[in-house]
Amino acid sequence: MSEAMIQISGLSKSFGPLEVLRDIDLEVERGEVVCIIGPSGSGKSTLLRCVNLLEEPSAGKVVVDGVELTDPETDLDAARRHIGMVFQQFNLFTHLHVLDNLTIAQRKVLNRDKAEAERVARHNLERVGLAEKANAMPAQLSGGQQQRVAIARALSMNPRVMLFDEPTSALDPELVGDVLGVMRQLADEGMTMLVVTHEMQFAREVADRVLFMDGGGIVEQGPPSEVIGNPKQERTRTFLARVLDPTHTHVAD
Ligand SMILES: Nc1ncnc2c1ncn2[C@@H]1O[C@H](COP(=O)(O)OP(=O)(O)OP(=O)(O)O)[C@@H](O)[C@H]1O
Ligand SMILES: [Mg+2]
Repeated sequence: MSEAMIQISGLSKSFGPLEVLRDIDLEVERGEVVCIIGPSGSGKSTLLRCVNLLEEPSAGKVVVDGVELTDPETDLDAARRHIGMVFQQFNLFTHLHVLDNLTIAQRKVLNRDKAEAERVARHNLERVGLAEKANAMPAQLSGGQQQRVAIARALSMNPRVMLFDEPTSALDPELVGDVLGVMRQLADEGMTMLVVTHEMQFAREVADRVLFMDGGGIVEQGPPSEVIGNPKQERTRTFLARVLDPTHTHVAD
């Protein structure tokens, strides 16, 4: 199949009178890593949440791996199985051991038996460098380790696409690198990824394409060397000046 993994067309989303996404068109190729940057409130999370229909679009079409999620006939639960999502807050089950966090959805949703689910779980814990933490409780792990468990949990469902919404922004700075390292490895393995992030260095090094969003639309997109390295739009330049130098308070001349 040569069609794009994610095909979004004419996507709009309003909350009451507030128009949050305006007529977005976006295709993400198989194996492509797209980073989304932009100011707070620009609609980044809403766009990501529309990809798996956690938010219902007001208009437009979302197709993932050939399945139209916006078609009312589509079995959404089935379609979502192929879409992994990792949030800023790790959303682990705090009362379950790491291993159980990774096996519960495999068993309930994919009907894997206990032995198979545990085999997959241990394989994915190893991928994120946490094989020895299978029997730990989430509270016994650092934030970075918890986020890597959350990634391993998503991977245990054999996703075809991974969505990340600011996966490192709740972490202490010294824990960010390990999580980005795991994401970089996933990208190298060919995972299709849509990543909302403020980590410009990661975006520069790992993204095939960077989107700058503002006011519910895609203002500028292209290779990171262009969008981050040499932005064409004034709004992109202003945003980057603020992100790259937080002490910078006014617009550059
Ligand atoms: N469930 C909701 N109900 C009403 N308004 C919402 C809802 N979710 C988001 N919004 C509004 O939509 C706009 C876009 O929000 P969104 O979370 O997508 O922004 P964002 O770009 O992810 O911002 P941030 O960088 O702060 O995470 C904001 O004005 C927000 O207040
Ligand atoms: Mg957000």
